Amino acid sequence: MSVLVTGGAGYIGSHTCVELLNSGIDVVIVDNFCNCKKSSIDRIKALTNKAFTYYECDIRDYDGMDEIFKKESIDSVIHFAGLKAVGESVYKPLEYFDNNINGTLVLLDVMRNNGCKKIVFSSSATVYGMNNISPLTEDMKVGGVTNPYGRTKLMIEEIMQDLYVSDKEWSICLLRYFNPIGAHKSGTMGEDPNGIPNNLMPYITQVAIGKLDHLGVYGDDYDTHDGTGVRDYIHVVDLALGHVKAVEKVASGTGLNIYNLGTGKGYSVLDVVKAFEKASGVKIKYEILDRRPGDIATCYSDPSKALKELGWKAERDIEEMCEDSWRWQSQNPNGYPD
Ligand code: NAD
Ligand code: UFG
Repeated sequence: MSVLVTGGAGYIGSHTCVELLNSGIDVVIVDNFCNCKKSSIDRIKALTNKAFTYYECDIRDYDGMDEIFKKESIDSVIHFAGLKAVGESVYKPLEYFDNNINGTLVLLDVMRNNGCKKIVFSSSATVYGMNNISPLTEDMKVGGVTNPYGRTKLMIEEIMQDLYVSDKEWSICLLRYFNPIGAHKSGTMGEDPNGIPNNLMPYITQVAIGKLDHLGVYGDDYDTHDGTGVRDYIHVVDLALGHVKAVEKVASGTGLNIYNLGTGKGYSVLDVVKAFEKASGVKIKYEILDRRPGDIATCYSDPSKALKELGWKAERDIEEMCEDSWRWQSQNPNGYPD
């Protein structure tokens, strides 16, 4: 089986390529490198010792993508490519809609015209919006999303649902990720955000390494066990293994299926700080700030559908997530080399 991985040089994509290659699945990476370094490709090669092809191409480039499909024999696609910064999407909605929506439309068109109708898509727990009560299940009403980034995920889910209604030859998995953190056990692959991190774990690791002075905790007056926001953190390698199962699922027939990929457990910001301190031996200075607009108190998954239908379950606990995040950050204080 040969899988085209859009955004395969990024954080989740690179970890997924390693697990695909280790499972004996061939990989073709397409990335325009707008949010990653090319050296992540070398790290995938070094970790797997397997040959694979990569193309520098924007998924919005119809001709470029068409050429890749004509040259390679692609059975299915895992579609990670997209812009993902929630705050930035508020200031650059057109760029987010163009990249994420238009990019997906071009990709789907190229796939259809080349007879490839199997796709796994990176959606997000953000589609559950502000009003559902955790644990979140796939059959809950989606919507009420608070930012353009989240709207792109919701719209793409709807586009793929309409596509499946129009043509039952498609085989589609929509994967709703919760909060991916952690890094490859080797310490050679991990999350490498541009500039000041938006997300909790890379912020914590940069405080630990001394790049940032202290963590700002966005609110301690939520209705949670310690007042700080609760999320379902999932190890990126568990998430990557979920993609291997999902790609096997889309290969096995037709249909449209939606799965949560989470652990089913919620940890607060301060729980994560404590777990990180224990794993790294480094004290994390923090200050309580106002709530961040758009944040909700609690968000965690019911992951039982993925267990039942994909045979997948997250195995790595919060301690391991923190240890692996710290190993990556401490061995690569400046992230990937250029
Ligand atoms: P990432 O930015 O590390 O990876 C995305 C990759 O896509 C990058 O390598 C980037 O260069 C590439 N890319 C972006 N636009 C492209 C385009 N037009 N053409 C070709 N390549 C392009 O992000 P990630 O954390 O690995 O996330 C992967 C996917 O998962 C994204 O779609 C993201 O929205 C989704 N997701 C991420 C999270 C998270 O917390 N990391 C949560 C839910 C969903
Ligand atoms: N937080 C802080 N300080 C920070 C960063 C985050 O206190 O510097 C808190 C947040 O308020 C929240 C928790 O840590 O309570 C997690 O925040 P993240 O920014 O790491 O993650 P979010 O849950 O806000 O969002 C993430 C992704 C979104 C995705 C969503 C659901 O960034 O893209 O998970 O999958 F949509």
